[in-house]
Order: sequence, then C-alpha cells, then structure tokens
Amino acid sequence: MSDPASTDHATLPARTDELPDPLLFLDDDGHLCSRRFNDSYASRDGARAQARAVYLTGCDLPSAWAGRAHFTVLELGFGLGINCCETVAAWLDDPAATGVLDYVGIEGFPVRRQDWPLIREALPGADRVGVLQAQLAMHWPDARRGSRTLWLVPERVRLTLIFDTVQAALDGWTGAADAVYLDGFNPAVNPDMFDTGTLARLCRRLRPGARLASYSAAGWLRRQLRELGIEARRRPGFASKWHRLEARWPGSGHDGGADQEAGVADKAGQ
Ligand SMILES: C[S@@+](CC[C@H](N)C(=O)[O-])C[C@H]1O[C@@H](n2cnc3c(N)ncnc32)[C@H](O)[C@@H]1O
Repeated sequence: MSDPASTDHATLPARTDELPDPLLFLDDDGHLCSRRFNDSYASRDGARAQARAVYLTGCDLPSAWAGRAHFTVLELGFGLGINCCETVAAWLDDPAATGVLDYVGIEGFPVRRQDWPLIREALPGADRVGVLQAQLAMHWPDARRGSRTLWLVPERVRLTLIFDTVQAALDGWTGAADAVYLDGFNPAVNPDMFDTGTLARLCRRLRPGARLASYSAAGWLRRQLRELGIEARRRPGFASKWHRLEARWPGSGHDGGADQEAGVADKAGQ
C-alpha cells in the first residue's frame, strides 16, 4: 500500500472530541461484540459470508457497478470493516470493475487502535480480505470526530471514514451513494441508525436507482422506507435469519452525469 494521504473532511465542524468506546470484547464463542450495545458485530453464522449474502447481493453487486468509471458505497455502521473488505475484494477481483470505488463508512463508536490485534485474531484471513484488514488496522485513525480519506488501493479504492453520529455525519457528507449498507446493531437497542431522521437524510444522498441492503427487514423499517419513496422488499435471510432487506431508490441507475468524487473534498493520494 502506498503511503496514504489523510485529510480532514472539509464540511464537518472542526471538533476534536473523542467518541464513545464501543467496548469491544470476544465472547465465549469467539464472536466480536460490543459491551456498550450488548450485540455482536456480525452474524454468528459467518461474518464474511453474511457480508456477501446480505450486503453485496442485497445491492446487486457486482452487477450494479459493471461498466462504471466511479461507484460509491455508503455504509452506515462501519464497525470492523468486514463488509468493506469483502466489497473491496470483490471490486478488485472483478475484471469488469476498472474504475474507482469510493467506500464511505460512517461510524459513531469507533473501535480503538489497540483493539485491532483482537479483531485480526478473531477474523483471520490470508487472502485478499486479510491483507485489506491488515491495511485498515495499520491506518486506523484516532477515535475522534471528523473525517479522513485515504487510498486503500492506489487509484482503485478510496476509503473515507467519517467518525460521527450517523445523522451529523450524513448532514456533513456531500456525496451521492450508488449502494447503501444499513448495518446498525439491533434496532431494538440502537434505533438511531434506522429512524426516520436518519433515513430522510439518507434519501438526499442517493443517486437515481441506488440500492440499499440490510440484515433487518422488519415491517416498520420497510414501511418507513416506502413512505420515503424507496421500494423495499423482504428476501430470504442469511443462515438462521428469516429475512433480509433489499431496497431501491427510484430512477434508472447511473444518470450518466460526470463521475464525481463521493463528497470527498480532499487531496487524497496526491
Ligand atoms: C453491526 S455493527 C457494524 C458492522 C460493520 N458493518 C462491519 O462490517 O464490520 C453496527 C455499527 O453501528 C455503529 N453505530 C451504532 N449506532 C450508531 C450511531 N448512532 N451513529 C453511528 N454509528 C453507530 C456501531 O458502533 C457499530 O460499529
């Protein structure tokens, strides 16, 4: 990996306060969990398989990015970067993906740098995903409010980490998403990630035809999405889950306009 440039997000207030610690721990079954949310970061039936089955499939990837010079994935709840690394690996493995992938992750309770050895131990991987995880660990910023952008893979994949609560982060982000991963913890203990204020802000940041995916397909979530004009439907869930969510913002896919950068007002990689 090249030495990445790291910049502050131009549109976020220059606050430097530290965000709350999610209190990461490994439970008795070897799953990474947050003591603060009393929930696990990924499916107990397989974190990487869940990423592919729920998020990539739910957003019709890799098909949806075929032929695109620029594609933006926005994730609400970046967590440990499991979905990110799986997505980036799929992009790099896809001969039809020749442009730039912008991956924008919003996270309000970032794990700490000292948590990464535990994360790497619990999510081993000698393949491309493992290499990407190691890069994330190496470049993981302090848990302070703000935004940093770096080239995860030079000229191919740019990562923007926005550390802030979800609504403040969406208010500050000026990009447009082609695919959205809604990955908060259980909505019952973490309603902010799925409430109407968050979803309404999200709608303003979607490209025509954008896809959304979530492990949660609860009726109230689908109703909220429909009220905002997003077509939402249940699909068979991953492993022990009955359902997952697939949703689509109206429009006919990429509007053919200029391939803009994803709200990244920076000089990343220059
Ligand atoms: C299930 S985990 C996400 C796992 C992640 N997608 C991955 O691939 O590793 C949910 C994430 O949402 C974050 N989160 C919860 N509430 C939030 C909020 N109000 N604003 C921003 N992030 C939040 C949590 O800190 C946690 O990292």
